[in-house]
Amino acid sequence: MSRVKDMNLAKAGHLKMNWAKQHMPVLGLIQEEFKKEKPFEGLTIGMALHLEAKTAILAETLMEGGAKIVITGCNPLSTQDDVAAACVEKGMEVYAWRGETNEEYYENLNLVLDSNPDIIIDDGADLIFLIHTKRPELIGKIIGGCEETTTGVIRLKAMAEEGALKFPVVNVNDAYTKHMFDNRYGTGQSAIDGIIRTTNMLIAGKNIVVAGYGWCGRGVASRASGHGANVIITEINPIRALEAKMDGFTVLKMEEAAKVGDIFVTTTGCKDIIRMEHFLLMKEGAVLSNAGHFDNEINKCDLKELSKSVKEVRYNIEEYDLKNKKIYLLGEGRLVNLACADGHPCEVMDMSFANQALSAKFIKENSGKLKNQVYEIPYEQDVKIASIKLTSMDTQIDELSPEQRKYLCDWKEGT
Ligand code: ADE
Repeated sequence: MSRVKDMNLAKAGHLKMNWAKQHMPVLGLIQEEFKKEKPFEGLTIGMALHLEAKTAILAETLMEGGAKIVITGCNPLSTQDDVAAACVEKGMEVYAWRGETNEEYYENLNLVLDSNPDIIIDDGADLIFLIHTKRPELIGKIIGGCEETTTGVIRLKAMAEEGALKFPVVNVNDAYTKHMFDNRYGTGQSAIDGIIRTTNMLIAGKNIVVAGYGWCGRGVASRASGHGANVIITEINPIRALEAKMDGFTVLKMEEAAKVGDIFVTTTGCKDIIRMEHFLLMKEGAVLSNAGHFDNEINKCDLKELSKSVKEVRYNIEEYDLKNKKIYLLGEGRLVNLACADGHPCEVMDMSFANQALSAKFIKENSGKLKNQVYEIPYEQDVKIASIKLTSMDTQIDELSPEQRKYLCDWKEGT
């Protein structure tokens, strides 16, 4: 039934899952609740997420809640084959392996959809788009979906605005306990981790160009700076550019940054951020990486066109020989934190996936009552997740006294 690389890898996958689970206390607590309540009994959940250990714990949590899990990856280079094999042994239906061709990637998404799911859990919205464009016959049974990432949410909102969205979707990305931690501290650490692991190069003293100063860009800039890099930000938004400047970073247009950058990280969610004219300006040995969802932020066609040859010079590093200089691309320009490392740290994905699990439960509990729109996560859910997380970190915080509560509401009395 399942299609994975090698079932003999399962043992290593279980070890990774066990380690991850130990560092995911919030999701662990939800798993215990789901085990008792079985909120998904009789339902099939179709998932397309980066299939690594933390994702497997989310899938296990939903399975403990009674769901049948059918899962694939959401990026051809982010699946960890040992984890995929372990998921099969846990009883999930899995269609994923690292290094899928584009065709295989879509075959696997379609195999997930062949299970006729009731709930969709997506990262990048590829499953949801596929349902709407090629598999509309599935829409009637689907009670809702959850979307993990900024890139997916932007397009889903556009769909909803045009009236094209045919089932409700929860915007998991915009929960505070998701984007402020996952996008910032998660991408910040894991993108730098991917670059360091892959290149074994020193960050200190390098000019690191970060394209985009959203939550992901802020995280990468802050972590690169912590390693001693000179951080340069490129932006199209004046407010974010101003923020980057006041955070102490140099702000340049990409055409200027291209001339001085040693390492580039794109985090924008938009295409063609680094393209022909920029490659021409770059220094010998420039290293390029992308931390955005799709592999179109660095224009690989342009890079290929300029090069007389391309070869792998180290695992996950391709050398593009541009006649007068060499430029290095990490992880084929796919998400450097997942293609070249293990994704975000466990403690961060703990909160992101707690939001996913509770959102799936929200969809089930409100089945038939929701409109075909993008729903935001209720503030109370964020507060609950943050509170459990703080407790797991053995951190207590103050509470308002009744007098303070009254003071904050009392507009008549003045100060
Ligand atoms: N691990 C699982 N999903 C991930 C994501 N969206 N980003 C980073 N690491 C992940």
